Amino acid sequence: MKSDLYRKTKKDLPVPPNLGDYEELRKSFSWKTAEKELAWFEGKINAAYNAVDRHVETWRKNKVALYWEDEEGRKQQYTFEELARRSNQFGNYLKDLGVARGDRVFLFLPRIPELYIAFLGILKIGAIAGTLFSAFQEQALSDRLGNSGASVVVTHSSLLPRIEKVRHKLPELHHVLVVDHEAFAKELSKKDEELHIVHMDPGDYAFMLYTSGTTGKPKGVMHTHRAVVQEYETARWVLDLRDEDTYWCTADPGWVTGIAYEILGSWTAGVSALVYAGRFDPKRWYKLLEDYKISVWYTAPTAVRMLMAAGGALVRGYDLSHLRHMCSVGEPLNPEAIVWAVRTFGRPFHDTWWQTETGAICIANYPAMDIKIGSMGKPIPGLDAAIVDDSGHVLPPGTEGNIALKPGWPSMMKTIWKRPHKYESYFSGGYYISGDRGLMDRDGYFWFIGRADDVIKTSGERVGPFEVESALVAHPAVIEAGVIGKPDSLRGEIIKAFVVLTKEESDKVKVKAYAEKLKEELASHVKKHLAGHAYPREIEFIDKLPKTRSGKIMRRILKAREMGLPIGDTSTLEEY
Ligand code: WT7
Repeated sequence: MKSDLYRKTKKDLPVPPNLGDYEELRKSFSWKTAEKELAWFEGKINAAYNAVDRHVETWRKNKVALYWEDEEGRKQQYTFEELARRSNQFGNYLKDLGVARGDRVFLFLPRIPELYIAFLGILKIGAIAGTLFSAFQEQALSDRLGNSGASVVVTHSSLLPRIEKVRHKLPELHHVLVVDHEAFAKELSKKDEELHIVHMDPGDYAFMLYTSGTTGKPKGVMHTHRAVVQEYETARWVLDLRDEDTYWCTADPGWVTGIAYEILGSWTAGVSALVYAGRFDPKRWYKLLEDYKISVWYTAPTAVRMLMAAGGALVRGYDLSHLRHMCSVGEPLNPEAIVWAVRTFGRPFHDTWWQTETGAICIANYPAMDIKIGSMGKPIPGLDAAIVDDSGHVLPPGTEGNIALKPGWPSMMKTIWKRPHKYESYFSGGYYISGDRGLMDRDGYFWFIGRADDVIKTSGERVGPFEVESALVAHPAVIEAGVIGKPDSLRGEIIKAFVVLTKEESDKVKVKAYAEKLKEELASHVKKHLAGHAYPREIEFIDKLPKTRSGKIMRRILKAREMGLPIGDTSTLEEY
């Protein structure tokens, strides 16, 4: 693979990185030894204990763990000790409600400190934490809460109406806690600040996240307490976190990045972290980088592209001299974004690759390693990645195939909730098949090519076409819908829907103004029922969807047509 090389010099490494020699560590590394860096209780572990309480026994006790700021500029901060005590109280509250080990407790909260406190409290009592992105609407909520059988939802008064709307569909949901209701806050503050933190088997569940595939409802990806081992190591090797840092991860804990690198991995590394509870805004972001003297920054390519669009000149008004290291995840990081970052911040973004299912960073660019611009870097020590064909046979360097991982890394999902067969379908020939296509070059660098399936990545967020199609079909004007990701220079992809209307409506949309109005209505219908971020930005009415003879929508053909590409193999296609 031909590409430009970004050579690391002394300027890139003002302090020696945590991972000095990648090749050397890869050779000598074992997870068994790495595990010793964490706190264990005779073979048992608790991820939340490692993230917070462990530090309370050290000089980090009074170190700020969480700097919090919202859009209005309100600020709060919590030391490690304060987080430990508050989460203990939360754990006690849940225990007194009768929440037991293995019960599912879901968080439907904006990015407020209570979200982080509650998450830790849930793990401490051995319950399973589930996070729900605050943009989720009725359908997304009832699918996830119903499938998980959550007995408790922790929410905020601003989001409560959505939970109330779906509550009648959720017989297993016994308690809805509203963190900003005075009665709740008062009760909570009375709880004991001491808590017996449950010692878990490393393979016991700690948290779960719903994620989308091509077909069917979102699936519950189960993660264990052991995941913290890899989340911690990668926070050190890849994010290069250390005690002097103030670190900012821009992700929401509704997604895995916000759990692994805003709570578990980063706090286990003992770092002070900023959480900004506000929308994207270039000036505000630069101001936060300046105000908090952020030294390590983990964000997403869409955000970088939006900063690029706002112009590099804007940066000059801010003192960003504390920035030492920058990483991104979630979608391909354009080479131009790296070049722009070097010009603008004097340093590159380091691309990292992983998935909800992998639980932590798996392939990455490291501070001490030269960057082949456009590549995702190399697999982390302790993990073997390969490019394999569909039966799991390893392909030679330079060949396109499936990006695959050798199972056994500590943060690998343990199963799919209630769907063991779905879990098994991820594996082939002794490999975990990621669903991404890519290649490995002769130097061992991995390159992303695209998804092997129809999963959409819009602004870095994973959206299943089936969920959007189902939401569209629930509208009375719609008979059928096929949904694809359409390449977009800012958002990576946007959601495009091809919609077949009822006979009556298809007559009406011959009038352009009516058609436009209906498109708007359909988009807002999806926003209202599924999620604010998962609606189609483009809608096209068509007479008939391409389908296989067995009736499956062939999104691949919709996409090829949209992009003016050859349609490819149509042997299974029904007459079209
Ligand atoms: C999918 C996983 C894990 C953090 C957030 C995403 C895409 C992820 C990269 C990258 C190109 C990437 C893949 C992957 N993706 N990182 N560096 N370059 N694509 O988690 O929502 O489970 O999505 O995001 O397609 O399979 P996720």
